[in-house]
Amino acid sequence: MLNPIKLANKNFLSSLDITTEEFIYILELAKNFKNKDVDIKLKDKVLGLIFNKSSTRTRVSFQVAMSRLGGTTIDLDPNTSQIGRGEPIKDTARVLSRFCDVLAIRTFNQSDLEEFAKWSSIPIINALTDLEHPCQALADFMTIQEEFVDFKNIVLTFVGDGNNVANSLILCGALLGVEVRIACPSGYEPNSSIVNKALEIYENKSLLKITNDPNTAVYGANVIYTDVWSSMGEENKKEEKDKEFDGFTIDSNLIKNADRDAIILHCLPAYRSKEITDEVIESKRSRIFDQAENRLHAQQALLSCLI
Ligand code: CP
Ligand code: NVA
Repeated sequence: MLNPIKLANKNFLSSLDITTEEFIYILELAKNFKNKDVDIKLKDKVLGLIFNKSSTRTRVSFQVAMSRLGGTTIDLDPNTSQIGRGEPIKDTARVLSRFCDVLAIRTFNQSDLEEFAKWSSIPIINALTDLEHPCQALADFMTIQEEFVDFKNIVLTFVGDGNNVANSLILCGALLGVEVRIACPSGYEPNSSIVNKALEIYENKSLLKITNDPNTAVYGANVIYTDVWSSMGEENKKEEKDKEFDGFTIDSNLIKNADRDAIILHCLPAYRSKEITDEVIESKRSRIFDQAENRLHAQQALLSCLI
């Protein structure tokens, strides 16, 4: 049985809010939660959920995680709370800090999340922003570890938009020393400040590769990952991006030069026949639904270490 630890940082706004050692501990604890081999309880603790964008997996996995831990959640709909009427974050944050024990927030700007963190006395969790999706990445690396046991010599190739999911994979790859290749159309590369932060952490800087060629990126890869081409908030760019991303669909042809034991990941929701084919999602290489399940276990571990 693992001894519970508390994370050094109060918040989980970014994948870089945890150290490599804390990351490895969270993955181990998540595995214990999955195996029902842990007895950590957060009785009477309350998680507030503030979602300014749609969600199925993140919302429900946080709700079930708190329920299993003996706590509860309050789902604050921005449209029926004062948040949607424009109450300042600094007021909402201070008031909710007096009712709740932790907040998970899904919003557009990372700076809004940081504003919440500045004014809250309770931990703030990033439940997705335009910049990062760190809770997703915890479950992603848990799924990779389940398959390959350790991260040594693992090549993770992300094919698609250099978006929030790609950014978090890059940062986590840097923390764990995993080779991360990002293949995206020109102009859709990951955020340069994320890339620079990752390069500061990687001991071997050649382990991070950004390319516009999906075929070379997939060559010999152990994990092939994709996400939607147009993220939430980019609905007006969809038509243009669908054209720009032609050739970046994960299909059986693209993955034929991957490692023979390669697995396929997608954070979901997916647009079949856009970023990935139905055949690949449903193939025996796919670990997409294990990955979705692991959101629950990883977040139980995260919550246990934050509050
Ligand atoms: N992967 C993920 O975050 O899914 P939801 O948008 O359904 O929460
Ligand atoms: N990049 C996607 C992820 C959804 C879970 C988005 O931000 O919409």
